[in-house]
Formats: sequence, structure tokens, C-alpha cells
Amino acid sequence: MNKETNKKFPENFLWGGAVAAHQIEGAYNEDGRGLSTADVMTAGANGLEREITEGIQTGKYYPNHEAIDFYHRYKDDIQLFRQLGLKAFRTSISWSRIFPNGDDENPNEAGLQFYDDLFDELLKNGIEPVITLSHFEIPYHLYEKYGGFRNKKLIDFFVTYAEVVMKRYKNKVKYWMTFNEINNQADDQNPLHVWTNSAMKLAPDENKEEVVFQAGLNELIASAKVVKQGHEINLEFQIGCMMAYVPIYGYSCYPPDAVAALKVMERRYFYSDIHARGHIPQYTLNYWKRQGLHIDYNKEELDALASGTVDYIGFSYYMSDAVTTLTETTGQAISDFPVAKLARNPYIRASDWGWQIDPVGLRYVLNTIYQRYEKPMFIVENGFGAYDKKEADGSVHDPYRIEYLSAHIEQMEKAINEDGVDLIGYTPWGIIDLVSFGSGEMEKRYGMIYVDKDNEGQGTLERSLKDSYNWYKNVISQNGL
Ligand code: BG6
Repeated sequence: MNKETNKKFPENFLWGGAVAAHQIEGAYNEDGRGLSTADVMTAGANGLEREITEGIQTGKYYPNHEAIDFYHRYKDDIQLFRQLGLKAFRTSISWSRIFPNGDDENPNEAGLQFYDDLFDELLKNGIEPVITLSHFEIPYHLYEKYGGFRNKKLIDFFVTYAEVVMKRYKNKVKYWMTFNEINNQADDQNPLHVWTNSAMKLAPDENKEEVVFQAGLNELIASAKVVKQGHEINLEFQIGCMMAYVPIYGYSCYPPDAVAALKVMERRYFYSDIHARGHIPQYTLNYWKRQGLHIDYNKEELDALASGTVDYIGFSYYMSDAVTTLTETTGQAISDFPVAKLARNPYIRASDWGWQIDPVGLRYVLNTIYQRYEKPMFIVENGFGAYDKKEADGSVHDPYRIEYLSAHIEQMEKAINEDGVDLIGYTPWGIIDLVSFGSGEMEKRYGMIYVDKDNEGQGTLERSLKDSYNWYKNVISQNGL
């Protein structure tokens, strides 16, 4: 074997691209779709949070309502994906297209039909759909009437929704994930809401930590029930979790920094430990007791956790962080471990949005998580948000994106071939420009396909290919070499 063949990616490696329903589809009120929690988020800006409004308010701009109009243009977009050579396309199902209110008696046939058509179109073009059931959105009615995922009734609503779509698409979709970046809510900084996964409003006197743990546990129970039920629907299903892995290093070799890094990661592992191991970790039970947190669960739910462990670990990787207890170093406070703070890593650069670029951190994550769970891993998001410029001739030169992605692919290769990690696929984020989740901007672009639309919603929506598109096409055609 020569050196080059040693560097091969597995034969059926899923080279793909990722998006989420509300960030691309638009058509927010068409064909019977109900309002979703993503539809009440206004546009923010770089460094400016999006506003979450009570229902839709006139005079405010909600970028998801039209997004990039994928709902009407998906056939053309899929042709661009096919020419790129994508083997997998990760998107989500918008729950409120299927159950407009979330607690409806019957599903909305037009919504089901849309995803039938979308999946057929992908399969016809040789592209495997990879589907998330809840990507940062739930039907808005479930927030209004039940208060979001803090309410245990949502467990049943989610399980019913999953049953309907898994039965309907059982011969079209093999790879599923339950909740996108389920651990993100743990460090949600919004004082009024915990919106991303759970769609909850907080009362001023509430113990936020308790509510967030409760909602997270409810989601984990719902997820485990869906995994079990999914395998009964089709034994071939591969059902994974979806974690945001941002490794937190000790900032220095001062030993308390190593302990701080460990403790901060513990809060994040709570979610994937339950998904993958099927029980509430003892370190969390001890923590709840020490803090006097009252989290509600029963024996039947614990049994559900044990019988619905995930088949693979899906995760996003964008950046790393560092934590320190050194008093002379400045940084941003961390609520769950107050003696420490997040400090800027002097060895790596950051994007225009302050996300620290660390390809080696991806190898670190692949190794630590594989050692922890020994399950196949799937990188379902990784990408570089940047300001792109479309030239007069329609070309877009984005060498920074190529540099970012290729550096991460190099580390994947090492994790597979030098470290023995079982990695099954890679779907870089925002294969086509879309609405940013964090800031609601269009101009924080991730795509290899440019979409002509700006932060104010102006533009022709015309698609054009960036340099990274041709680069990635080459990567896929050579299976990563
Ligand atoms: C992940 C989410 O957090 O990162 C996506 O799963 C999101 O929905 C992506 O879009 C990038 O974040 P942002 O804020 O730049 O859109």
C-alpha cells in the first residue's frame, strides 16, 4: 500500500451537505403549514441578537418567512447538488407542516406530500436524505398553549409526529436524528427565553437551570421513545442524536484550568451521555441533589431511556473554546462553573463573527467522543460563515472557505486512518447560502452555492456557484484524497 491509498476514506463515505427546513424553505404559511417557533424570530445582525416576538408583528422583518424559497425551487437546487456529486443531503422536516398545531388529531396531507416529493427527487438524483425531526423549531401553538418542552405533554406529541413521518418515509429515509444540537440550550444566554430547542419563556423568579434540565430530559425521553419506535417501524433505520461539540480546553497548564475544562464539558456531556448510554449520569444526579434541583421523571421514563439508545453520534463542529481560572486573564463568565471564564485562545484565529477556527479540535472531538461511546460518528455540520462578494461576471472567490474546509477534512482523515475512529459521513453546513440561525442574517454565508439575497431581504434569489463548489466536487469525486 502506498502512502496515498493509506489515506483513503471509507468506500461508502457519505459526502454531503446540510441545511435546516426553516433556514431554507420559506413558504411559511403555504399548504396548511402552521406557525413555527422559527417564524417569530426577527433579523438580528453581527453581534446583535434576534428578537423573539409574541406572534407575528407588522412592521418587523422575519427572514425565515421566505428564506431562500427552497420550497418552490428545490428541483433546480437538487440539480446543482447532483452536479456537485453529493451523496447525502441533510435537512429537517418542519414539524408544523405535518402537524400545524402540534396537537392536531390528524396530520396535514399537503405537508406530508411535500416531503414525499422532496425525498423522491433526492433519491432519483442519487442523493440519500438525512433527516432531523426537530431542528430548532416546534409548532408555535405548542409554545403558546403548553409552554414548550418543559411540559411533558410534548413528549407524546413528538412521538406521534415521529411515528407519522417515520412510517410514511420508511422506504425513503434511512438516517434520522431527533433534536438538533440538543445541548445548545444549556448555554442559551437569552434572559427571557430558552428558544433554540425547547421554546420556553422564563418567569423572572424561575430557576433557569432547573427548567432547562427538565426540558432537556423531556426531549431525551421523547428521543429515546422515538429511537425504539423507529426500529420497530424499520429495523434498518439508523437513528442518531445531534450534538454541538465545542471542545473546551484548559487555557493553561495551571492544574485548576484542567479541572475547569472537565467540569464545563460535564454539563455538555449530560445530553449525549443519556442518548448513548441510556441513563442519567451519576455526576448529574449528584449535581441535582447538591443544588436542590427538582427534576421530574419516573420509572417508565427511565426504562424508555435505557431501551432507546442511539445508533450513531451525529454532531456539529465549528470551533473550540478555552477556559481559565487565572485571575490575570480576562474572559466571558460561564454560568455553570462560575470560578472560571472563557478566554480567547492565542494559538488560533477567529472568523468575523468571533468563532475560533480550530481544525485540530475536530480530531480531538472525534477521538474523545469515539473513546467515550464507541459508536459510529457522523459530522452533520461544519462550515465557515463569511462575507462573500459576487463579482460582476457572477463568480464568487472564497479561498478562505476552501482553506477552512480542507483543513478540517485533513483532520478527519487522520482521525480515521491514524486513530481508528469510525466516521461514516460529512455534511458541511449551509451547502447553499441560507438564513443564519444565530443572527438571522443572509450575509453570514456558509454556502458553496451563492444565493442573491441580502440582510434586508432584497435580491433576485438567483443561484451561482462559488469556487468552493468546484473544489468540493473534486474532493467528492476523489473520495477525499
Ligand atoms: C448550528 C445550527 O448551530 O450552527 C444551525 O444547527 C446554524 O442551524 C449553524 O445555522 C450556524 O450558526 P449560525 O448562527 O451562523 O447560523
